Amino acid sequence: MAVSRRGFIKVIGGGVVSAALVGGGLQGCDRMPASAVAPWQGPGAEQDARRRALSWALLAPNPHNMQPWLVDLRREGEILLYVDRTRLLPETDPFARQIVIGHGTFLELLVLAAGAEGYRCAIEYFPQGQPKEGEVDGRPLARIRLQRDTAATDPLFAQIPHRRSTKEPYRADPLQPEHARALQTSHPSPVTQLTITTDTAMAASLRGITERAMLIELQTPRTLKESIDRLRIGADAIAAKPDGIELHGPFFWWLSKLGLMTPEKATTPGTMAWQGGIDYALGWARATPAFGWLITAANDRISQIEAGRAYVRLNLKATELGVAMHPVSQVLQEYPEMAGLQREFLGMVGAVPGQTVQMLFRLGYSETVQPSPRRPLDALLMS
Ligand SMILES: Cc1cc2nc3c(=O)[nH]c(=O)nc-3n(C[C@H](O)[C@H](O)[C@H](O)COP(=O)(O)O)c2cc1C
Repeated sequence: MAVSRRGFIKVIGGGVVSAALVGGGLQGCDRMPASAVAPWQGPGAEQDARRRALSWALLAPNPHNMQPWLVDLRREGEILLYVDRTRLLPETDPFARQIVIGHGTFLELLVLAAGAEGYRCAIEYFPQGQPKEGEVDGRPLARIRLQRDTAATDPLFAQIPHRRSTKEPYRADPLQPEHARALQTSHPSPVTQLTITTDTAMAASLRGITERAMLIELQTPRTLKESIDRLRIGADAIAAKPDGIELHGPFFWWLSKLGLMTPEKATTPGTMAWQGGIDYALGWARATPAFGWLITAANDRISQIEAGRAYVRLNLKATELGVAMHPVSQVLQEYPEMAGLQREFLGMVGAVPGQTVQMLFRLGYSETVQPSPRRPLDALLMS
């Protein structure tokens, strides 16, 4: 993410680096490398319909932007989708629930993109059997066959290049009732139940929960470290690894230059980098007029995939409506330090035992943000 001046001033506490910025002319420093966002231009001259559809699918939202997808195209007319087990988040996502949701988002974009090219996707989940509960294994998560079709293109396809997870403070304006209704009616999923709240008191309670959950993640050394290990600070690091959590722009360029933003500093309580990370994340949570969440009756792999499919459709619909959307998953995560707050949250949203909140997200209005990096399609292919 390119960090705003406001966010930055918080990060540095208005101190030493602001003087360095006064000189101006810095906006050109440390831009997002073009190669890292080139995939947002779509498949270009690709001939193979599968590669064309996959070029859109890899723009899917996914946890920590780890892009945990592996694809086998070696059999004609068929795509096998696997979990890339080198790209998991074992501390914050110990059962790979969110990683699997991130395969649902990928599959839904694949379906939309294939549809736009005149193909229907025949999808078989876990064609070689399901992994043990809470695990992911080396067998495919889905087999997809493209079949010629005459159905009209889903209008949500057009939103794929414009969709974002908008990680910014939102304006104070309430979510317009017609936008809440349009999102709700765009959600026909039989597997996930969608709730959107614009109620002021409920939104305030959820802001409080979201803040406390972020603090738990950021103050638990091993979960904080998981994020810090995936930071890409500055254009060179992002170009070399176009994934993870990217920080770039003149402000971070200066912080790095002055040695104030290093992975070590960011994990050390009391440093500017550590406090800045906390203030920045809490800034989002506090500036949120409305929330939504998706509940499933079961927490099996297929429910998780369906939750991802439903989530990205909502994200695309929000894009069409001009509504900003951003998952805040901390309170949903299954590690011991979060368990108490999670119980409080589940009670607050009325989830009954057995149900799982798969996604919790902020809703509101914000400036448009830049696309996040993606690896090129070839990096996802098995050979
Ligand atoms: C299952 C899931 C959980 C996510 N949780 C968070 C989260 O807690 N905080 C956050 O900032 N983004 C979260 N995201 C959004 C990703 O960070 C985002 O999709 C990724 O950085 C790529 O950015 P993009 O969606 O703008 O393309 C989540 C996405 C998914 C699919």
